Amino acid sequence: MKYPYSKRVIEHFRHPHHMGRMKNPDAVGVAGNPVCGDVMYIYIKVKDNRIIDLKWETMGCAAAIATTSMLADLAIGKTLDEAEKLTKKEVADALEGLPPIKMHCSNLAADALRDAIKKYREKHEN
Ligand code: FES
Repeated sequence: MKYPYSKRVIEHFRHPHHMGRMKNPDAVGVAGNPVCGDVMYIYIKVKDNRIIDLKWETMGCAAAIATTSMLADLAIGKTLDEAEKLTKKEVADALEGLPPIKMHCSNLAADALRDAIKKYREKHEN
């Protein structure tokens, strides 16, 4: 059977990076897709305005899992300003593309990360 996914998507789906819950995160972001019902949590640790660790839990499809895994690789080490600018297209490109019908799934990871960054700022920058 030929999968509709790129080799990189399948690799990240089978062996996701940075998956799991984080103890004592500095902030937790959440995003959901009301159409399919999938939900994602992103936990971040921040030092000197930089994401030094990120973990995630995704109750979602293969594309949602692979995009969160890739987003974690891309976001760790970035400043909050850089990380909040990551787009679903950058994540999908890093995965060598997603089937068009699955592009909406890549919104979740970027949205959950932005939510985590927003909550971190609300807590720490006032
Ligand atoms: S089908 Fe729900 S995120 Fe992919």
